[in-house]
Amino acid sequence: MILVTGATGKVGREAVRQLSGLGHRVRALTRRPGQADFPEGVEPVGGDVSDPASLTAAFEGVTQALVVLSGEVSAGARNVAAAAAAAGTGHVVLLSSASLEHPLPHAIADEHRAAEEAFTAAGVTTTVLRPGPFHANTTWWAETVRERGEVRDWIGNNPGAPVDEYDIASCAVAALTGAGPRGGTHLLTGPEVLTSEEQARILSGVLGRELTFSVAPAMEVVEIFTRLGGDRAAAVGNVAALRSPQVPWARPTAAVQELTGRAPRPYQEWAAANAALFG
Ligand SMILES: NC(=O)c1ccc[n+]([C@@H]2O[C@H](COP(=O)([O-])OP(=O)(O)OC[C@H]3O[C@@H](n4cnc5c(N)ncnc54)[C@H](OP(=O)(O)O)[C@@H]3O)[C@@H](O)[C@H]2O)c1
Repeated sequence: MILVTGATGKVGREAVRQLSGLGHRVRALTRRPGQADFPEGVEPVGGDVSDPASLTAAFEGVTQALVVLSGEVSAGARNVAAAAAAAGTGHVVLLSSASLEHPLPHAIADEHRAAEEAFTAAGVTTTVLRPGPFHANTTWWAETVRERGEVRDWIGNNPGAPVDEYDIASCAVAALTGAGPRGGTHLLTGPEVLTSEEQARILSGVLGRELTFSVAPAMEVVEIFTRLGGDRAAAVGNVAALRSPQVPWARPTAAVQELTGRAPRPYQEWAAANAALFG
């Protein structure tokens, strides 16, 4: 039995779909199992990563797991790692973050570093996926694109190689089901280096309408991140790191190709599949 946490989210949902399509037995963890609409045969399980008792039940009989955490990543990781170790789960794929390799210290990196350490400390064999920014982060543009044809960028306009959630899920599935060695750390990127403005141009082409492009002042984004995450000091550090030109995802890596045997998806494909979000 393979357990997927964060199973209703972007990466988890896609991994559940792929694993169940390949015929694997999948248990999908969500805080609202009654509302879940997983593929037929997938076993929804109620659980909250802040509630160790719920994790003990969710991990019963689990041989492998894909662990996707959100919010309090490090605290959740400690609970999940303890439950996996207690259940004798033989292999975990952990969705971490490329931010951990960033030269500027910041809260996102600290949280994911602590999460990786929690699994090492628990003695669970862990394959670590460290993706750079997701293609889906451009969903942040949807409201201003719909309302006034404007891409209002939050993370500056430095070049980087964003990655598709589909490819992250595929890497997780390959690590869980392939014959390759378990363990190791993989920095996942997409296939092409793009600035945000170049992504906006691709989106504009897909939508068939002109979009203006502007970069929001850093303090405006700090306010947004503070509203979303609740911690102003962390928001200041996170925005500075995301806007730094020294990002670890500045160049494409071969990791998606090596893990899945195929090239990662370009942004154009994500934009075409998600055009409806932008009106
Ligand atoms: N966005 C990026 O550019 C980027 C880059 C690198 C790494 N990451 C990392 O990717 C992870 C997020 O992945 P994602 O975008 O696929 O996730 P997501 O779409 O944000 O969904 C996460 C899921 O986690 C579940 N969840 C939230 N709190 C929970 C709790 N206390 N207990 C149990 N489940 C909980 C929610 O499901 P329910 O409501 O159904 O419970 C939610 O659907 C984060 O760790 C993030 O740091 C993101």
